[in-house]
Amino acid sequence: MPEMRVACVQFQPLRTAVTANVDRMIAFWPDGCVLTVFPELATTGYLFLSPDEIRVYAEPADGPSLSRLIQAAAAKNAYAVVGFAEAKNGRIYNSAALVGPHGVIDVYRKVHLFDRELSVFSPGREAWRVHDVGGLRVGMMICFDWLFPEAARALALAGAELIAHPSNLVLPYCQDAMITRCLENRVYAATANRVGEETDGETSLHFTGKSQIVSPKGERLAQAGAEEDAVVVAEIDPSLAYDKRATPSNHIFAQRVPHLYHALTDDIVPLRSEKPYRLNVAAIVVDRLGRILAGERSDLPGVWQLPQGGIDPGESEEEALRRELAEEIGVAAEEIEIVARSNEVRTYSFPAYLRRMRIAQEWSGQAQRYFVVRLKKGAEPAVEASDGEFCAFRWLAAEELLAQAVHFKRAAYAAAFSEFAHLLRPDPLSDDA
Ligand code: ACM
Repeated sequence: MPEMRVACVQFQPLRTAVTANVDRMIAFWPDGCVLTVFPELATTGYLFLSPDEIRVYAEPADGPSLSRLIQAAAAKNAYAVVGFAEAKNGRIYNSAALVGPHGVIDVYRKVHLFDRELSVFSPGREAWRVHDVGGLRVGMMICFDWLFPEAARALALAGAELIAHPSNLVLPYCQDAMITRCLENRVYAATANRVGEETDGETSLHFTGKSQIVSPKGERLAQAGAEEDAVVVAEIDPSLAYDKRATPSNHIFAQRVPHLYHALTDDIVPLRSEKPYRLNVAAIVVDRLGRILAGERSDLPGVWQLPQGGIDPGESEEEALRRELAEEIGVAAEEIEIVARSNEVRTYSFPAYLRRMRIAQEWSGQAQRYFVVRLKKGAEPAVEASDGEFCAFRWLAAEELLAQAVHFKRAAYAAAFSEFAHLLRPDPLSDDA
């Protein structure tokens, strides 16, 4: 197979200066490379505080920024992977687009959001895909996905020869870790990082540059410096990424034993314990638009869940429900209207990796009675009036809450939302609906 050239563009996007950033990307885009990778959020800059703050700079995949880059791709007869803030169905995603001379080929939405991105972007919930561009099979992942080896593995198993990796790296580990990602998957990776500082007035971040192209043998073929704008280019041979032999007798994919790896794909590896399940009530609080109240855990930012809690001795389920809601969302018992009670008790187990959690020392998991609840007119959840278990509240559609719930509760939530689907729709009698 003929060798081909790929590139990473490293630069400093200016926060909110979308048109100027796209101008610079087009100016940096080198000729003669089948694929050029640009940084994460290259069109908008990185640090935003909320979805509303970035919304004005976010664009759909058919918006002006990608349209301009498609024109450039046509002029160069080349492909690019571009990090951008994507507006889609009212949500904002941290996305990467694969664009070519004829348009957008695919959009990947970042699955593993980093730190404060959790309060800005909706998490992507589509699996990793691979596309043939100019004879090279390319898959995308974004920045912090590097810390989840499953992402690169999934791409390699789907046939990626090169992982295009738009990044805005702040931790010091990724450039070295990507050597291992490449070695363990026998793929190329092109990590296009940004440089410079960014501040939103409250927080400042310094980005680490050192964009790089790594081979399936873990060699750095090209690397930029830590601070300056740069274009790094490398010659690659896709057939090298097809060859999964680490030694003549070790084909690393043929030697895999997937049936021993079920812990990677099962929803949960449960605590193996003889302990009982704790009786508990969970509240699906719905608003007039059919959305569900989710609380963000104070101890686990980015993890959203239903209000819930154990039933105290001598308490009825309904008493426990009203008490828990008063404590956790700060709405008084009389302001709560119970709309439905499930006939089932749904259980979930605690995962083995949480075995030292206090509650897991006593219980195997939770056995939950789900209630559907409405708040009386004027009653609002309030962190200030609550016991502080939650640090924020949001009203989410069922599928959004499922996307942001912790993995070991998801099946129980999905079953409960499905049981009460008829109540999770806009209320036709409501003024708001
Ligand atoms: C990152 O995921 N931008 C660190």
